[in-house]
Amino acid sequence: MPKLTNGSRSVAGKTVLVTGAASGMGRATAHLFADEGAMVAVTDLVAGAVQAVVDEINGAGGVARGWTLDVTDQAAVDRVVGEIVAVFGSLDILVNNAGMVAGGPVDGPSYLDDLLRTLDVDLIAHVRTIRAALAHLKRSGEGRIVNIASTEGSGATKYNSGYVAAKHGVIGLTRALAMELGEFGITVNCVQPGPIRTGMTAGIPEEAKTKFARRRVPLRRYGEPEEVAQMTVSLCLPAMSYVTGVNVPVDGGLLIQNT
Ligand code: NAI
Repeated sequence: MPKLTNGSRSVAGKTVLVTGAASGMGRATAHLFADEGAMVAVTDLVAGAVQAVVDEINGAGGVARGWTLDVTDQAAVDRVVGEIVAVFGSLDILVNNAGMVAGGPVDGPSYLDDLLRTLDVDLIAHVRTIRAALAHLKRSGEGRIVNIASTEGSGATKYNSGYVAAKHGVIGLTRALAMELGEFGITVNCVQPGPIRTGMTAGIPEEAKTKFARRRVPLRRYGEPEEVAQMTVSLCLPAMSYVTGVNVPVDGGLLIQNT
């Protein structure tokens, strides 16, 4: 009997662009794609940190190249996407991971500046990279976009309104672009990490992390960056051809808790 299933569960040979890939979840995602045989464009703000991740990946037998890239700079995004395609020959997968947080009360002195910067990095930048990559993703035939949202895209934390607004926006943007890009065979999904051990949460004392996790997370611990990367890569498999517009929590169960 011929095989019943045809969908490929491999990203080998695909080209992937990961933003904010020098740290945390972006770094773990770049590594996992490379471990699975993809060619990885590692991008982030600081050249030395980018090169360190590229060296790690290539040293482990993967294929990676690095670019310094600020995702708030449209001209730079356009140029880097062009260079990635020139080097690797294609662009099949885009992971919008770069992010920052700047909290504070709504009437604080730096609130508006922080809000605009947060929206720019955490939401508008996703549109910049998607616009730059779109023609190449269309050509791929199996184009995949994964946007990294947050559990702050479904709930909210006091004094974090810029980030909360941006992450709610990421979920809306994901749905709207899934509607728009489906006809090109491009899927657009987002991942909602819960509390994860990365650069962003490194300043939270261990005791506070443990207390929070015991109180709020059914799995009773912070997550590791690789646990989020596993979901991101899974959403990019050729076999994930009928999944689009979804928003997948990777949060140890945080969002299901009702009491
Ligand atoms: P991280 O701080 O370890 O990594 C974020 C990376 O984004 C850094 O390398 C940083 O240089 C880069 N970045 C910041 N601004 C940039 C810009 N303008 N252009 C290019 N790169 C820029 O933090 P983490 O946690 O790995 O963050 C990854 C994503 O996960 C972010 O979108 C964040 O909002 C999201 N997230 C994180 C959670 C956590 O608990 N750590 C929870 C939910 C979502």
